[in-house]
Amino acid sequence: MSTGRNIVVLTGAGVSAESGIDTFRAEGGLWENHRVEDVATPEAFSRDPDLVLRFYDMRRAAIQTKEPNAAHHALARLEAEWPRRVVGGTVTLVTQNVDDLHERAGSFNLIHMHGEHLNAWCRACEMRSVWTGALSHRPQCPQCGARALRPDILWFGEMPYRMADIYDAMHNADMFVSIGTSGAVYPAAGLVRIARDNGVQTLELNLDPSQGSDLFDESRIGPATRLVPGWVDEMLAGTK
Ligand code: OAD
Repeated sequence: MSTGRNIVVLTGAGVSAESGIDTFRAEGGLWENHRVEDVATPEAFSRDPDLVLRFYDMRRAAIQTKEPNAAHHALARLEAEWPRRVVGGTVTLVTQNVDDLHERAGSFNLIHMHGEHLNAWCRACEMRSVWTGALSHRPQCPQCGARALRPDILWFGEMPYRMADIYDAMHNADMFVSIGTSGAVYPAAGLVRIARDNGVQTLELNLDPSQGSDLFDESRIGPATRLVPGWVDEMLAGTK
């Protein structure tokens, strides 16, 4: 298998699972304890903002106790070393995850398409602020003083972030790799079709075959902490 210069990697909850962060759709996952429509929609926020803010306060606190795992570290290593192996080569990491484990592992060229737990978004002035504490006590926005902060997390029915940048990266991609995502949520789940339409090499690394598994040129099944470092080693050794 030959490799191109520009790699786009899409990650989902499976990458952070071995760091102890629940995936969304597995038994015992996030939505088992809270129905999605109770916490992750604009309507839920209008109906019961206390419940929604407390729920995200709990998740925000929890992720700060977690550490990046071998998969996060391997992807950061790929981003750092790939341009040394392939002149002009880039690695763009597009994540559906709202934790900060990719950046804590050292990834820089990173797009959080579903938002970030450690940001608050002011509905009065529209500014984003880094936020590690709680929001349920209605703190003031550091920029404008309004008590109108919400989690900077995409809710169902809202537009994912930075789609123009994502489509741009896909347009320039020579290889597309999907890691730890069920392929259940669009537009992320549709990126593999864009890659295929552009004749781009595609690879999936996942614990189970995803919903669009047969769209990939190759699908490797196993835990991210084993598969991702192995794939990165292959890429950097030039054996794949
Ligand atoms: P899901 O929970 O839907 O899927 C997680 C995927 O990770 C599954 O396919 C698992 O097989 C796989 N997996 C689990 N453990 C793994 C491991 N150790 N190694 C590798 N793979 C593993 O999570 P996402 O696909 O990320 O959106 O969900 C997509 C979006 O749905 C989320 O971003 C969220 C949710 O609604 C929003 O909140 C907007």
